[in-house]
Amino acid sequence: MKKLCLLGLFVSLASHQVLAATTPVPLENKDAFISDLMKQMTLDEKIGQLRLISIGPEMPRELIRKEIAAGNIGGTFNSITRAENRPMQDAAMRSRLKIPMFFAYDVIHGHRTIFPIPLALASSWDMDAIGQSGRVAAKEAAADSLDITFAPMVDISRDPRWGRSSEGFGEDTYLTSRIAGVMVRAYQGATPSAADSIMASVKHFALYGAVEGGRDYNTVDMSPVKMYQDYLPPYRAAIDAGAGGVMVALNSINGIPATANTWLMNDLLRKDWGFKGLAVSDHGAIFELIKHGVARDGREAAKLAIKAGIDMSMNDTLYGKELPGLLKSGEIEQKDIDNAVREVLAAKYDMGLFKDPYLRIGKAEDDPADTYAESRLHRAEAREVARRSLVLLKNQNETLPLKKDAKVALVGPLAKAPIDMMGSWAAAGRPAQSVTLFDGMSSVIGDKANLIYARGANITSDKKVLGYLNFLNFDAPEVVDDPRPANVLIEEAVKAAKDADVIVAAVGESRGMSHESSSRTDLNIPETQRELIRALKATGKPLVLVLMNGRPLTILEENQSADAILETWFSGTEGGNAIADVLFGDYNPSGKLPVTFPRSVGQIPTYYNHLSIGRPFTPGKPGNYTSQYFDDTTGPLFPFGYGLSYTQFALSDMALSSTTLNATGKLDASVMVKNTGKRDGETVVQLYIQDVTGSMIRPVKELKNFQKIMLKAGEQKVVHFTISEDDLKFYNSQLKYAAEPGKFNVQIGLDSQDVTQQSFELL
Ligand code: BGC
Repeated sequence: MKKLCLLGLFVSLASHQVLAATTPVPLENKDAFISDLMKQMTLDEKIGQLRLISIGPEMPRELIRKEIAAGNIGGTFNSITRAENRPMQDAAMRSRLKIPMFFAYDVIHGHRTIFPIPLALASSWDMDAIGQSGRVAAKEAAADSLDITFAPMVDISRDPRWGRSSEGFGEDTYLTSRIAGVMVRAYQGATPSAADSIMASVKHFALYGAVEGGRDYNTVDMSPVKMYQDYLPPYRAAIDAGAGGVMVALNSINGIPATANTWLMNDLLRKDWGFKGLAVSDHGAIFELIKHGVARDGREAAKLAIKAGIDMSMNDTLYGKELPGLLKSGEIEQKDIDNAVREVLAAKYDMGLFKDPYLRIGKAEDDPADTYAESRLHRAEAREVARRSLVLLKNQNETLPLKKDAKVALVGPLAKAPIDMMGSWAAAGRPAQSVTLFDGMSSVIGDKANLIYARGANITSDKKVLGYLNFLNFDAPEVVDDPRPANVLIEEAVKAAKDADVIVAAVGESRGMSHESSSRTDLNIPETQRELIRALKATGKPLVLVLMNGRPLTILEENQSADAILETWFSGTEGGNAIADVLFGDYNPSGKLPVTFPRSVGQIPTYYNHLSIGRPFTPGKPGNYTSQYFDDTTGPLFPFGYGLSYTQFALSDMALSSTTLNATGKLDASVMVKNTGKRDGETVVQLYIQDVTGSMIRPVKELKNFQKIMLKAGEQKVVHFTISEDDLKFYNSQLKYAAEPGKFNVQIGLDSQDVTQQSFELL
């Protein structure tokens, strides 16, 4: 959790004329109710509604309540229990107009029960599972008095150097857009006003995942076509699904910070997309307009933000202080403030808070006796979702699944790492409640002597990196460092390996390495762990790597050394059990990569759906005068959509129902999928389309649909996809969204590279 600051919490709003409260309009009519309420509000009360304040443990509660009762705070974040939030709501009920507070939190992948990180959720390609994770999170958060989450995070990221890749759903626009809609509906349920729903606020609007060089908070300079085509659709999908809020990004877009960007916030979001909800700034973003160099001082920053349509100022230091003066001098108009206030009140209305300010806080006598009680967790759901999110990258000689009576050496710094299991942004999850890989494997291995554990290596031996990762930990260091020399740790692990039938090495990143502000120049597993892997390989014992990481890593060497590799990301509270389910074959892995794994950092970006080029590299031919790097193999290590199973699947008989399609017609693309192996299993059948010739260069392929299907051993099934003109539309150079007649290639495969193809003509 980030350091919270008191700065700016307390503003003394100049006292303005206090209006007499009148009898309010009945609640049923939302617009009239809000207009009526606004008529009764003083300027100070209005500005108070625009302030969103972070509640840290160090904050003086009495003073906060006083501010709330004075109408100076509209909502809080980071206060996350009923007992904490009730007195604040009581204070709001003592305020002149009794406008309820809302309570927000970053519920990103679970609340008390932590589900796999978003990148892992996307790896499941399972919309029901993903939806279930969001629904459970909403129920748990609502039961803890929370009204709104700053999620889903749908920033497309094609640069794994960016640490927040872990928080998004990968590199693909279509997959991320599907998940965006699912998540919003999961959080908000039938309506955000239900007691077990929370409002979703999609973030970070916009293009945050495209920061230059993968450096967090950096600039984004992007062509309008690329924005519209690739980066904006997921936000739009969330809004179309009814997201009540939007969090505005920290980056600039083509020279204007999102927080001051009237094109982004007004023209695009509100006018073109019809968004009517709440726009919240990111943490301190209004103040940062000065550092971006577009505002001279705080006063100008506040003016730019309110003019751009930023309704609420997160961790406000400026709205409270500057808006009254700006209004007085005529630099902003009353309507600038009123529009923002109306949106805050409307969001509170939609959360059901005017009807019942205690909707999610409930009565004190019903508060859980123990907030952290086991009974409040949803372990079965978390385990089910987690095992669906694991991706089998390699399985030579059927090294996996392991035999339950095998003697296993479990090594690596992530084998017993309860904090890392949860991943970053782990909300109210508790490390003590997460199942580590050691715990999960212990539950399966009956004879405890058959599980030999050795740490083998620290996460990193780089003290500077360690210092960085432990920067924010007030109580205890998050990344534990075993003081024994590296060779001693390795020798212990090698000894364990020699005594065992098979080695399972849990290696990768600590969770903080894939987090906000955790950009990397190097995507290797840290060197100290690589040395461990080399030593383990030298034992000649079968080597299984269990990767834990929040972004694609460069694992060229490890891919050669290991007999099997399971990508587990950070798999949440039940991660250890879920991984053990897969390692021992109780669950047949079915995850597919939602991001490309590059061979090296130098190759980035490596996303699969890049534009066609004039001199493409042709595999098997000399690379001279083609687009490639001459010093390495061209192409990714693992392509987008890739993932193995313990069974095998074969595709055959791909067919299109017609070789032509007209604007109103539909075309059926089908393929026979057969489970040719010995186990039942699931796989993801993926449909890609390439627009061969257009008025603009089009991508070499784009994911347009997919189906996750279960086939029993030996079973076969024809999978059908319907293609219509809508699937062929794109934003042309005039930003007109339309399909163009001509040839289209349809590809079906179990990953983005290994596909079977047919073509048709759009008439
Ligand atoms: C992050 C947001 C987050 C906010 C509140 C910021 O630093 O960029 O994603 O919602 O903090 O915790």
